Amino acid sequence: MTSPDNAQTPKQYLPPQALMRSAHVAGRAAYDALAAEAEAGYEGYWARLAREFVEWKTPFEKVLNTDHAPMYKWFEDGTLNVSYNCLDRQVAAGRGDKAAIIFEADDGKVTHTTYAQLLAQTCRMANALKALGVGKGDRVAIYMSMSVEAVAAMQACARLGAVHSVVFGGFSAHSLRDRIADTGAVAVITADEQVRGGKTLPLKALVDEALALGGCEAVRNVVVYRRTGGAIAWQSHDRWMHELTQAQAEVCEPEWVSAEHPLFLLYTSGSTGKPKGVQHSSGGYLVQAAVTAKWTFDLHDDDVFWCTADIGWVTGHSYIAYGPLALGATQVVFEGVPTYPDAARFWKMIERHKVTVFYTAPTAIRSLIKAAEGHAAVHPRNFDLSSLRILGSVGEPINPAAWEWYHAHVGGGRCPIVDTWWQTETGGHMITPLPGATALVPGSCTLPFPGIMAAIVDETGGDLPNGQSGILVIKKPWPGMIRTIWGDDARYQSSYYPPELRGYYLAGDGAARDPETGYFTIGGRIDDVLNVSGHRMGTMEIESALVACTDLVAEAAVVGRPDDTSGEAICAFVVLKRSRPTGEEAGKLAAELRNWIGKEIGPIAKPKDIRFADNLPKTRSGKIMRRLLRSVAKGEAITQDTSTLENPAILDQLSEAH
Ligand code: WTA
Repeated sequence: MTSPDNAQTPKQYLPPQALMRSAHVAGRAAYDALAAEAEAGYEGYWARLAREFVEWKTPFEKVLNTDHAPMYKWFEDGTLNVSYNCLDRQVAAGRGDKAAIIFEADDGKVTHTTYAQLLAQTCRMANALKALGVGKGDRVAIYMSMSVEAVAAMQACARLGAVHSVVFGGFSAHSLRDRIADTGAVAVITADEQVRGGKTLPLKALVDEALALGGCEAVRNVVVYRRTGGAIAWQSHDRWMHELTQAQAEVCEPEWVSAEHPLFLLYTSGSTGKPKGVQHSSGGYLVQAAVTAKWTFDLHDDDVFWCTADIGWVTGHSYIAYGPLALGATQVVFEGVPTYPDAARFWKMIERHKVTVFYTAPTAIRSLIKAAEGHAAVHPRNFDLSSLRILGSVGEPINPAAWEWYHAHVGGGRCPIVDTWWQTETGGHMITPLPGATALVPGSCTLPFPGIMAAIVDETGGDLPNGQSGILVIKKPWPGMIRTIWGDDARYQSSYYPPELRGYYLAGDGAARDPETGYFTIGGRIDDVLNVSGHRMGTMEIESALVACTDLVAEAAVVGRPDDTSGEAICAFVVLKRSRPTGEEAGKLAAELRNWIGKEIGPIAKPKDIRFADNLPKTRSGKIMRRLLRSVAKGEAITQDTSTLENPAILDQLSEAH
């Protein structure tokens, strides 16, 4: 069949010549050779990389254990220490005086921390935790903003074989409590306050509040990093970080752990119920974080890498706390926000620190485009961004217009953009261009990382031909994958390995492959998970929080609708226990509910739209018809079949209530 005349072949951007020669994976043939190596000998391929990228205390002999699939084990008889690999190994390789972290505070103050200093700081912190009785297998909650201390806290846990669980500093006391309680953490590491966009915000006070809510009785100590010196209440279990670490030695023998020993738990939203504690391993995870950081970002010894994610998300784990350090790279860590003191902050920082590889989220790009369009002085063209050689994107689909702007104005038309598709559960990049090997198509995350067996299938796991949209799966286990949901193997199995999918990993995204290139384009979540500014939110989580407002709310349904800046926006339909409010009263109650959600979950979960109704559209069997609500939220005409609707008149009310 011939293409219609007006069919447009999407524009492809070839890798720059220099990168095709010098990149770690140089040229498409090099990519194909790696993919073929993995195809021909899957375990041998990953074993080779595991030996090249990680220094093992005891080398592994077993590569992959599938005996209890999907409870996979990788490199299980090998032992290692992750912090040793990230720090001691770099110092031993002569990088002691090399900057590990260039930290820029919210107010612009810059500090350089070398590998030797980061190692000493990590050891002191590990010794301090040890003195508090924290040991191998203990869980430690970390509730901090971006800082060298936060990275050192994660590394210190890794050094002791303690399992950290970082909770994003924007989560409420309630969410923090739930996470501390679920992990059974014995200690919490926090800061007195955090500074963002020129404002101080509480952290320690929220820890106090979380612990007072109950359920966290395992917590023996709260370690407090003094960031601002602001006044905070002091409890008998509180300890200042600087007092604890001052007295400690700068050496701390690493705890050698099995490759399968959990390195961390990180909570993420699922389609049902409470957030899931995604459990990651030590060995396989580090292999994946290191290999992907090296190949996707083509990191060389003289690069200055900057990932703008927060350590509260998986991106901040794999591409700040672990991957770049495992390679001995220099990276920028930024405390603040992209819009303070103005929306040129990122561009100024790239110029100031001569950043060579820059990794951020589409949401940030879209909001900076808007800012630059409104105010020419913050346009990236006013800054010297010539140090940049590679750009990256993560967290949500990047729309082609934002891609083109990022490419032209930030990358000066010369820097490839790696659009990296992956998830909290995958540990590292899964589908992504490699900058010296892959021709780019805006909006496509292109091809699987070599050794990742991604495919598009139907509901029964049958392969779909290219060109057809379907369910994105990963056919074989990979080293960096989730090991289980903390304390809930059954939920792990049912969420990610449903029986109908033939043993494939269910990612939860819809996708399609291009008929000619085989490139993947991600269509978004196929479950009830929203992606708001690259943050994962479960609709059920927000609904539960709304109905927990028992004085006001009788019933609530939450859906997403497309949004120009945040990708998706949260839209809540609420039935109150009193009659439906209108006008000013509706505005007042919506504000009240937004604050409530901020307290229950965190500001990132506040719905953009709240609409009040007398009822929700339901089928006769009582099921809320979300697809109708999605259309209403978008402002679309209802074209769906509404014959099963019990209360069709409600649709007019919902559409009006805008
Ligand atoms: C989405 C973030 C399109 C996707 C690392 C996935 C993306 C979810 C991309 C995971 C991308 C992430 N293109 N969609 N490049 N990257 N996503 O766990 O829906 O916070 O399932 O991990 O974000 O979000 P998570």
